[in-house]
Amino acid sequence: RTHHLAVIGGDGIGPDVTAAALAGVRAAADRYGFAIETTEFDLGAEAYLRSGVALGEESIEALRGHDAVLLGAVGDPRVTPGVLERGLIVGLRVAFAQSVNIRPVRLYPGVDSPVAGVSPDNCDLVIIRENTEGLYTGGGSISHAGTPNAVAIQNSITTVPATTETVEFAFRLASARRKRLTLCHKKNILVHAGQLWQDVVDEVATRYPDVEHDYVHADAMCLHLPMDPGRFDVVVTDNLFGDILSDLGATIQGGLGLAASANHNPRGTAPSMYEPVHGSAPDIAGKGWANPAAAALSAALCLAGLGERDGALALEAAAASVLAELPALAGPGMGGDTAEIGRRIADRVTDVDP
Ligand code: NAI
Ligand code: MG
Repeated sequence: RTHHLAVIGGDGIGPDVTAAALAGVRAAADRYGFAIETTEFDLGAEAYLRSGVALGEESIEALRGHDAVLLGAVGDPRVTPGVLERGLIVGLRVAFAQSVNIRPVRLYPGVDSPVAGVSPDNCDLVIIRENTEGLYTGGGSISHAGTPNAVAIQNSITTVPATTETVEFAFRLASARRKRLTLCHKKNILVHAGQLWQDVVDEVATRYPDVEHDYVHADAMCLHLPMDPGRFDVVVTDNLFGDILSDLGATIQGGLGLAASANHNPRGTAPSMYEPVHGSAPDIAGKGWANPAAAALSAALCLAGLGERDGALALEAAAASVLAELPALAGPGMGGDTAEIGRRIADRVTDVDP
């Protein structure tokens, strides 16, 4: 079997960490008897500065023909913030109906959490974030801009279909894990959207009688998640809360250098996209200091999404074992450059017993 991957290295450290992750993917393919074909897409700051377009229709159609998309990171100091991040990443999430964002928060053995008391035994949860709606739909307006009377309106949209798809996915995942699901919202203040989320959870829960579910407010979650991560198995939440909790989760699990994510199309109508949570890190771009572990763990999620379960577990275990030998992020003391760490992960894929 052959999987066709579209690869968007993007900007800054994106191409380097993606290349390192692909070395691990190829090692998994060799070991487990599948083939990987890659198509590189020239998207990101350079392409945008040349063409004035962040994501054209032809790119969307060409990407659509692949089984999955691997993304490094986009963002460049020469480009207005948001043009690439919104235009390209959010654009692809919407174009490919990637309505579910999957963010595992796991502390791997040998990695230090900056939060006292967090250990591999009590830190293994997954944040499931609705990926296309809420405040991130972008609608709104600003009137009297630049004056003391300026007023900004930012719309938030929450629909039953997208919420149901996300909640359904979260329950199915919880049912295959420790059978606990927590809805995170702010339903005491955001009463309309909060009620819709709670109604959807209550409805879907009737189809998963084996899964226990509860509710935690988003602000309280910022307290409970670091203090008692073991309390959570699957946390399901909206787009904005999920974005914020994902970074909190990244801190708990040892830093941005470890945080992986999937933008998942649950209906399989278009490719899913896999990306590390970190950005393009212009401050260290080109230095070879970037830690490729988050990209490798994202590539492992990609293999899982493609149905390559053994390859996914081997790549995750390989990245985790190399991680334990690295500092939390990177720098001159990282003990090897990005490509070398990629090769180390690839070698380990061949040897680990996942
Ligand atoms: P960032 O994640 O790029 O960097 C934050 C800090 O972490 C920097 O000091 C950086 O050197 C370090 N860092 C990040 N990833 C690392 C890695 N793999 N290894 C070692 N060190 C690492 O976030 P920042 O600086 O806020 O954003 C930079 C650009 O990236 C901006 O244009 C931003 O909009 C964009 N961005 C893009 C994302 C994406 O493509 N999904 C996500 C987040 C930011
Ligand atoms: Mg974010």
